[in-house]
Amino acid sequence: MNFGPLIFLGVFFTMACSWFGMIVVPQLQIGGQQPVKLEATGQMYPLPRAGLAQQGAAVYRANGCAACHSQQVRQGPPVFDVKLNDLGTNAAQVADIARKINHAAGAPLPGKNIWRTPVKKDADAAAKRLTDAGAKAAVVIVPTGADIERGWGARVSVAQDYLYDQPLMLGSRRIGPDLANIGARKPGADWQLWHLYNPRLITDGSFMPAYRFLFNEVPRRKDAPPALGALDKTLVAKTFPEPAGETVTDIVPTAEAVALVAYLASLNPDAPLFEAPAPVPPPPAAPATNTPAAVKP
Ligand code: HEC
Repeated sequence: MNFGPLIFLGVFFTMACSWFGMIVVPQLQIGGQQPVKLEATGQMYPLPRAGLAQQGAAVYRANGCAACHSQQVRQGPPVFDVKLNDLGTNAAQVADIARKINHAAGAPLPGKNIWRTPVKKDADAAAKRLTDAGAKAAVVIVPTGADIERGWGARVSVAQDYLYDQPLMLGSRRIGPDLANIGARKPGADWQLWHLYNPRLITDGSFMPAYRFLFNEVPRRKDAPPALGALDKTLVAKTFPEPAGETVTDIVPTAEAVALVAYLASLNPDAPLFEAPAPVPPPPAAPATNTPAAVKP
C-alpha cells in the first residue's frame, strides 16, 4: 500500500501547526504593538533612542557585549501593598481599621504602606475597608524576584520595551550582570568610560575584557596641559600605572566609546505598563556628578 500521501499530509500538518503556534499567534498578539501613552506622565512610551545612543547600540553589537550581558529582567509573582494616601476626616477610626488589618502597622500616616500581601483580593478588601472609613487608600502592585532584588530593574521586561530596537540584543548568558537598566544604576559617563578602558581599575578581579582599543592613549610631557577630552585620572580609585620618566599618558575616549556610553545611559525601561505594572518611579534626581566617591562602585 502507498502511504506517501498520508505521510506527506502528516508532516505538512505538523509543520503547519508549529508555524501557526510560533509565528502567526505571536504576530497577532504583539506584532502590531504601538507606543502607548503613560498614565502617570502623559508621555509616549517607548521613545526612540537618541541618535548617539543608536550609534552606540551598533558599537555594543560589534563588540559582542551581548555574549556576556543579558538585557531582560525576570520577575516572580508580584505582591500587593495597601497604601494609605490620605487619612480623611475620621483619623481615629482609620487608625483603628489599619491596626486591625495589620497589627504591626503602627500609627498610620499619609503615604504609608499599611500592609503587604501576596493575594490581590485581600489587598482590595483591606483598601475598601479604609476607603469606607473616609480615608484614601490604594493598592500598589510591587514586582518581586531575584533580578528585582539585585536592582537590575523595576519590573519584568516586556516586548513593548524593545519596540524601537533592531536587532534585539537580549542576550541569553549572564557572565556579567544584566544591563537592562544600567542607565539608572551607575553613577555617570566617567565611571562607564573608565570601566570600559579597564574593568580592573574599577572592579577588583573583574574578568570583563578591557576595551582599550576604544580609547586613544596620548603620551605628553608631565608639565604640559592634558589632551582635549582626556579622562580624569583622579576618578579611579586605584593608582593609574604611568610610564617612567618625564611623560604621562592621557586616556582619550574615541567617538565609538562615547556613543557606547550614551547607549548604556539610555537603557532604563522602568515605565509602569498595563502588562508590566510597577510602582511609579520617583522624579529624576539631580544629574549624577562625577565625584571620586561616585566612581568607586
Ligand atoms: C567575557 C564577558 C564579558 C564581555 C564580553 C563584556 N562584559 Fe561587561 N561585565 C562582565 C563581568 C564579569 C562584569 C562584572 C564585573 C565588573 O563590574 O567588571 C561586567 C560588568 C559590566 C558593567 C557593570 C555592570 C554593573 O552592574 O556593575 C557594564 C556597564 C558592562 N559590563 C558593560 C559591558 C559592555 C558595554 C561590553 C561590550 C563592549 C561588555 N560589558 C562586555 C563580563 C563581560
